[in-house]
Amino acid sequence: MTTTIAKGLEGVLFTETKLTFINGSEGILTHLGIPIQEWAEKSTFEELSFALLHGRLPGADELARFDAELRANREVPAELLSVIAAYPKGVHPMQALRTAVSHLSLFDAEAEDTAAEDRYRIGVRMIAQFSTIIAAIARAQDGQEIVAPRADLTHAGNFLYMLKGSEPTAEEARLFDIALILHADHGMNASTFTAIATASTLSDMYSAMTSAIGALKGPLHGGANEAVMDMLDEIGSVENAVPYISEKLDHKEKIMGVGHRVYKFFDPRSRVLRDYAAHVSEKQGKSHYYQILETIEKEIVDRLGSKGIYPNVDFYSGVVYSDLGIKKSFFTPIFALARISGWVASVMEYTANNRLLRPDAVYAGAKDQTYPELSDRQ
Ligand code: ACO
Repeated sequence: MTTTIAKGLEGVLFTETKLTFINGSEGILTHLGIPIQEWAEKSTFEELSFALLHGRLPGADELARFDAELRANREVPAELLSVIAAYPKGVHPMQALRTAVSHLSLFDAEAEDTAAEDRYRIGVRMIAQFSTIIAAIARAQDGQEIVAPRADLTHAGNFLYMLKGSEPTAEEARLFDIALILHADHGMNASTFTAIATASTLSDMYSAMTSAIGALKGPLHGGANEAVMDMLDEIGSVENAVPYISEKLDHKEKIMGVGHRVYKFFDPRSRVLRDYAAHVSEKQGKSHYYQILETIEKEIVDRLGSKGIYPNVDFYSGVVYSDLGIKKSFFTPIFALARISGWVASVMEYTANNRLLRPDAVYAGAKDQTYPELSDRQ
């Protein structure tokens, strides 16, 4: 009997979802059947979060109530803020976020509740609170006073306000809102799968979200956006872009921000972000970051397009975030700020019809061994 192993679980279907559809060969992404480009153009992060959590678009009143619920839940316990302020300065913000979210559960008397309505209530609260926690980590790491949330700003606008201590312009808030929309959900990616795997044991929402943060942190997943900026800094100039990429590819090294397990064509989110990155670059009189990225994109498509390697969502996002004054070590926490909506929605959808996730492996080790005494071992 031959056994086929699906390495990396590639192509394995383990559940049904009504949230997100991806056609990787044509570069199509939809949420509830609506193309991502339309969400980016017409919607808000608040509305998309509602849509993912409820599996349908809200009416105007429902959206207003949901938005009010998010605004009302932005505060986090003062004790948690004191702990965040005391974290060692040099730690990666994702370490701090993972720890803070786990810590947050200690202040929630209902943290262990796992009925559908509990998961929903805790999930919505966490969508609101992630923003306060991430901004607090950023301020504390810079030795600045933590800024309390404001209920009169949008989710995106309030985050930028807490991060910088001053109100963003309407254009900045909208640009950030679009970035959040583009990152809110993406099918069964590693971090969403991790959140589901944890919740499938009937563990609590804080554990599921903490596990997901750990999975997102890696450079093959959410950490790639930061790695792209490191690469741009290393390249330094437009002239050096092609020689740098060629040398990496000749040595079989991976280029960050390109390639995807599902997309074998342009990731549609990268197209939307490229347009905004181009706008940002134009405003700054052609930023050299954008010009380097354009040059790399051309080289990658020429050399690796036939293999299905194209820019992914992380390729242009850093340029947009940099323009908003966000430091590169916070790019991945911002990914979490958006993706929590997808995590919560996917956990809700899966646990509504739960089955413990428990894959198997082909045993390839020794057989029929006897137990050697410690003194007899080499
Ligand atoms: N740069 C250069 N070559 C690449 C890259 C890359 N980034 N990605 C894949 N390839 C090549 C591989 O070397 C391999 O070539 P080969 O067939 O000659 O051996 C071929 O393309 C297939 O690559 P795999 O690694 O098998 O593809 P996989 O589906 O495992 O890769 C992954 C997906 C992990 C995302 C990969 O493309 C990668 O490491 N990219 C860089 C990191 C990154 O940007 N991650 C973010 C992904 S999007 C997200 O999570 C938000």
